[in-house]
Amino acid sequence: MTQPYENELRARFGLDVELGVDLEGGEVPDDSWLRRVLVRRTTRRYSDRAVPDSMVRLLLAAAFSASSKSDYQEASCLWLKEPGRRARIAALFPDMPWIGAAPVFLVFLGDARRLEKIGALRGLALDNGALEGFFNAAIDAALALQSCVLAAETVGLGTCPISVLRNRIAEVAEILALPDKVFPVAGLCLGYPAQEGFVSMRLPLEATVHVDRYDEAGLAEAVDDYDRRRDARHSIADRQRAPERFGTAAFYGWSEDKARQAMTPDGVGFASWLKAHGFTLDEPG
Ligand SMILES: Cc1cc2nc3c(=O)[nH]c(=O)nc-3n(C[C@H](O)[C@H](O)[C@H](O)COP(=O)(O)O)c2cc1C
Repeated sequence: MTQPYENELRARFGLDVELGVDLEGGEVPDDSWLRRVLVRRTTRRYSDRAVPDSMVRLLLAAAFSASSKSDYQEASCLWLKEPGRRARIAALFPDMPWIGAAPVFLVFLGDARRLEKIGALRGLALDNGALEGFFNAAIDAALALQSCVLAAETVGLGTCPISVLRNRIAEVAEILALPDKVFPVAGLCLGYPAQEGFVSMRLPLEATVHVDRYDEAGLAEAVDDYDRRRDARHSIADRQRAPERFGTAAFYGWSEDKARQAMTPDGVGFASWLKAHGFTLDEPG
């Protein structure tokens, strides 16, 4: 008898993942949805097949079924239907043409504003602009986003989150006409996939799961092994990032690529934009 999910785990991690299942005991159910989650992937090319509004509404209902910190329900979503405004957003990011081309474009928003409004409705002046208010709203929006992604993939749609919006936050917020204390966590392109795409290999659980205490002793080796596995499946050796700045690496894997990528920070200007739009990002109180 083989371990359930063997093929999916190999696809996700590029190695045999031992779940430690007692094969006689029926410890883990063999579930087709879970199989799909394990091999889920981002989709950036969409077919012309329209996505009916009813489907989008269903997915949004699933999105807002996500759990929510303190039941504050601090996520919102802007469904950008106006072609002209979508085109203005897309024009800001010409290297991501899927932003303009996807049949549906949603923007998941952290919404620290609504709780203040609810306070006002009940005669309570509350300030939700501290770091806690920002953080809770960001988490709620991220959970709604990922719930939408999984719901969409469950019914055969493909998605691509778009956090690059925050790199041009002032223009994006102006186009979306966002009020203070409401900020984009990520856009979400949605449509029927035009191609199958590929499963993006993840770091091994040994690097990401810590039992009882945080332990990074094996990190360097785990990352080296992961780089090699990933390279064997899908090499990026011919796409070295900024060689004029970092040189040409003899072996160019995921970790070299991500380290170089992170040397040019994303989201420059986001913190100051937040501070100009109602957030102190300080301790509450
Ligand atoms: C919060 C978030 C923001 C993202 N932003 C972008 C983006 O701006 N553009 C893009 O093409 N992909 C974006 N992605 C997709 C990631 O690149 C993708 O999830 C990652 O490469 C792993 O691939 P996979 O989802 O197929 O496993 C984003 C994903 C997340 C979770």
